[in-house]
Amino acid sequence: MPAVVGSAPGKIILFGEHAVVYGRPAIAVPVTQVRAKVTISADPAGPRGQVRLTAGDIHLENTLDALPPNDPLAAAIRCTAEQLGIIQLPAMHLRVSSTIPIASGLGSGAAVSAAIARALSGFLGCPLTDEQVSQIAFKVDQLHHGTPSGVDNTVIAYAQPVYFVRGQPFERLLVERPFTVVIGNTGIASPTSQAVGDVRQRWQADPLPYERLFDEIGEIVGQARQALETGRVEALGPLMTRNHALLQQIDVSSPELDRLVSAALQAGASGAKLCGGGRGGNMIAMVEAEQAAAVAAALRAAGAVNTIQSTIP
Ligand code: PMV
Repeated sequence: MPAVVGSAPGKIILFGEHAVVYGRPAIAVPVTQVRAKVTISADPAGPRGQVRLTAGDIHLENTLDALPPNDPLAAAIRCTAEQLGIIQLPAMHLRVSSTIPIASGLGSGAAVSAAIARALSGFLGCPLTDEQVSQIAFKVDQLHHGTPSGVDNTVIAYAQPVYFVRGQPFERLLVERPFTVVIGNTGIASPTSQAVGDVRQRWQADPLPYERLFDEIGEIVGQARQALETGRVEALGPLMTRNHALLQQIDVSSPELDRLVSAALQAGASGAKLCGGGRGGNMIAMVEAEQAAAVAAALRAAGAVNTIQSTIP
């Protein structure tokens, strides 16, 4: 039997992270320059039912049975098998690779889960729909974040720009005019669960100021949606910078993120903000295509370990 491949892109949250956990909208888009990929081949020599897992990027070489139930790769495999009603998997070898930086706001976890769900369901002859893939990635995210909003799994599984409100069917977002962003990586791994947990603690202790900040972020998301749908991309930069200021007030930025945001603005970006959970990970800058190289160079000079240029959609 030939090997089966499943893959899924990375993502960035253009507007609305953190507030989206509290019911406000968010806008997210796929980043197709980076991807998670899973290849599954039959392992006829392997013992019956043995699933071998190799994930070179995280130095993992093990069998499914030996992994703890909350291991994200094991969880994605088990959720997919459960979805398909399969009790015993055939002997197989899963190879996971990804160019999406880990724990840095680009959705690496959800992309790996989605790629596993696609490859495994394809290998077993019953490919899952994007919605089923999204649900599996969501369940795996729940094991780690506790309270994920669902925006990551949605944008990654559907690989389309989305307008997302927790608990509601998502809307595909029409991006009337393409635009360019530069993504800069602080190189600091920052688990989303930590930042989300800290925000929750502070919100529980003193909800009102946080509710106001989330409302303000929600308003920015509404304005950004209009700008995207009407092709007024020049409005997006200032909205991003305002969104970043609100994320600073929620205390999910960091000196390194702030330094990259300032460097991008000084190099001519029309706006910039952290993206994802924050505290580290990545930021994005809104640029004219011809400025992208200069902004990327300024980001690297200010400490970015790598940059990605992406045109959306
Ligand atoms: O850091 P990421 O890429 O997992 O993005 C998290 C986005 C949050 O809004 C902070 C959390 C969530 O569940 O939506």
